[in-house]
Amino acid sequence: MDLKSLYLPLVFRFLPTPGPGGLVGSVLSHLLQVDASNMVHVTRFLDVQEVLERDDDFSVRLYDGKMKATTGEFILGMNDLARYEPEARIVYKAVRREDEILARKIAAEETEAAIAPLRKAGKLDIVKDIADVVPIRFVNRYYGTKVADPEALLRLYQTSSKYLFAFWDHPEMRAQAEAAGTDLRKTLDDLIAKRRASGNISDGDLMGRMLLSNETFKDGDIGIRRSIAGLSSGNINAPLGLFVLAVDKILDLEKDRIATANDLARSGTAGAQTDLLAFREWFHEAERFVVYPPFSYRYAEADTTLAEGTSREKRIPKGCTVVTWQSLAAFDPDVFDAPYEFRPGRPRWTVNGFGHARHHCVGEAVGQVMLEEMARGLFSLPGIRRAPGKAGVVQFKSIMDGKYATSFGVEFDRAS
Ligand code: HEM
Repeated sequence: MDLKSLYLPLVFRFLPTPGPGGLVGSVLSHLLQVDASNMVHVTRFLDVQEVLERDDDFSVRLYDGKMKATTGEFILGMNDLARYEPEARIVYKAVRREDEILARKIAAEETEAAIAPLRKAGKLDIVKDIADVVPIRFVNRYYGTKVADPEALLRLYQTSSKYLFAFWDHPEMRAQAEAAGTDLRKTLDDLIAKRRASGNISDGDLMGRMLLSNETFKDGDIGIRRSIAGLSSGNINAPLGLFVLAVDKILDLEKDRIATANDLARSGTAGAQTDLLAFREWFHEAERFVVYPPFSYRYAEADTTLAEGTSREKRIPKGCTVVTWQSLAAFDPDVFDAPYEFRPGRPRWTVNGFGHARHHCVGEAVGQVMLEEMARGLFSLPGIRRAPGKAGVVQFKSIMDGKYATSFGVEFDRAS
């Protein structure tokens, strides 16, 4: 076994895990900062922020190369402001703050449609029945990218994302992502061309807004396609993974605390605003335990120093991949009181799962609302609990297959 094939599973086994495993991981990450891998792992809150703020020293060029080869250029891979700003303006005009209202409505309806047929069964699979279904259907409506087979589209997004958001470059994953990128580009190009030809263009969805925009991409409708691919990918993969893990975390809590989540979800549904906010705080704290994606990565453009003047000061050689582990930074004892305790209501500024600085997530508000509605639909089910045995434990694909969740069974009291 070569060093890298040992190294990656180890990093994955330990680093995203809070608690003792995570601590072991933190130590391992320093031991394993081997020259052969050319990687630096950053695990403390302020150091992660510093890397993400220093765009000139720690660039997004690795994303850029991978995106160009697969789903197409996108703002997340653009370091040069002259490239970034014109495209970001169009994206920020399309994804609007007030879309929270629309997003809540779509997510609530799609979650109810997914759950309703299962109420009498008293059991469902969190991955197959909700996570793999609701975000892609949400995208179909919010982006105006309705396709006959949304699940096929989901697979294209997952195959490209597992390559884009891995901090290494594996030839087999690259080949798969290139093929998925070709299919994705064709599907979206067709949808955009049909929409333009139909004349049925309103600003009720993202595609419509971009087609109507008075600022245009340098490559016209191809730019719309590139951006919709990037946005939809963010709208599907991160929420899907985060949802499964956050539900898993809540079902790990003591029984009376799960019952509280149940009560909050149900009273929120009845329209009580304060309960809605309380449920949100609960869910956000669960998200802190399972930050997903667990890391971002950057390229060191020059020899430089990180955390200068602190006990953690470190020289970073030019050409390194710098991996920022937001999932571990979420337990930094310098920032979080009692970091391993589940304490809803922590300060907003400590949320780091949506990135930081220039490339901070465009869709945080929309994505959070979608997740909250998915979770409220689920926790409104009375007596929700894990299915017995292995069925009630989240199962995952292999790391090379993107480590996506494949199944996670729960039970609840049947509707009569
Ligand atoms: C709800 C779960 C989501 C999570 C956890 C999440 C997480 C993230 C993270 C960590 C980044 C920063 C990546 C980096 O700096 O390397 C990011 C960027 C981004 N996300 Fe999200 N995201 C979510 C949902 C969404 C949604 C719903 C959208 C679209 C509406 C979206 C669109 C984007 C875009 C466009 C960027 C790049 C911004 C830029 O480069 O300026 N994300 N996201």
